[in-house]
Amino acid sequence: MRIHSFFSLLFRLLLYSRADALFGHGFIRCQFTSSNDTVYLEQYYINKMLLLQYNSTLGNVTGYTKKAIEIARDFNKSPTFLRQEKKNLEKCKSHVSLLLDVLSKTVEPSVRLRSVDAAGSKHPGMLVCSVYGFYPKQIRVTWQKNGNNVTSDVTSTEELSNGNWLYQIHSYLEFTPTPGEKITCMVEHASLTGPKLYEWDPTFESQRNKIAVGTAGLVLGLVSLVTGMIFYKKNHAGRILVPTS
Ligand SMILES: *[C@@H]1O[C@H](CO)[C@@H](O)[C@H](O)[C@H]1NC(C)=O
Ligand SMILES: *[C@@H]1O[C@H](CO)[C@@H](O)[C@H](O)[C@H]1NC(C)=O
Ligand SMILES: *[C@@H]1O[C@H](CO)[C@@H](O)[C@H](O)[C@H]1NC(C)=O
Ligand SMILES: *[C@@H]1O[C@H](CO)[C@@H](O)[C@H](O)[C@H]1NC(C)=O
Repeated sequence: MRIHSFFSLLFRLLLYSRADALFGHGFIRCQFTSSNDTVYLEQYYINKMLLLQYNSTLGNVTGYTKKAIEIARDFNKSPTFLRQEKKNLEKCKSHVSLLLDVLSKTVEPSVRLRSVDAAGSKHPGMLVCSVYGFYPKQIRVTWQKNGNNVTSDVTSTEELSNGNWLYQIHSYLEFTPTPGEKITCMVEHASLTGPKLYEWDPTFESQRNKIAVGTAGLVLGLVSLVTGMIFYKKNHAGRILVPTS
């Protein structure tokens, strides 16, 4: 790649500059807003001042100081250089369409609806509708009671980035449990063909709590059993080993 020659050029610029503290850096940029307006840019700076720039829209190098203008003129006379820059633009364009392809994909969230402790709330109950792993960021999470929209006593987090393109959001509803009342969390997102409803099932949760208590009981029982066995074995062994003098 002719990029190497651009680096040697940066050194030439450094040599021509005054012998103060110098800091040179370069950028290669691929700018776009859609796949057909890609601009390929190479920019070279010394002490944060732009000295040289290749702009694919112009198809040439522009110098911004007297010396840089001379260097730019040399580059603009080189067909090899200009051809290479055209190739770089093509590469940049193909990467952009790949990127746009990725950006246009949607990822469907997974949703979990559960009750949490409503400490410090004016209502005894609180539900949280957790929506995980969706893309893009735009989403709507709303609540309904018996099919009617609920807007009061609702709080929500922002769309939180997972740091891997995916997002999560948590919406909270404070409520007073009422027998026979149907509470739903509704999720609307580009990955879904329509709104998706998740109904709160209090019996399911109490069932799960019973299983948890049952499991805890079983574990406690096992622990007692094992402790008992160890205790028994120790005593038993002790009895055998104790000298009978
Ligand atoms: C570039 O894309 C936009 C929208 O995607 C379209 O309106 C425009 O006509 C395209 N231009 C060219 C030169 O293809
Ligand atoms: C590149 O050149 C085009 C056409 O003159 C201009 O519109 C654009 O702003 C330039 N880009 C930069 C970063 O200077
Ligand atoms: C670069 O190209 C543009 C547009 O073709 C032209 O106006 C400009 O004078 C050129 N600059 C140099 C330094 O050759
Ligand atoms: C309830 O909210 C949904 C989505 O936010 C909206 O489409 C619908 O029109 C609302 N219904 C009523 C009765 O306000």
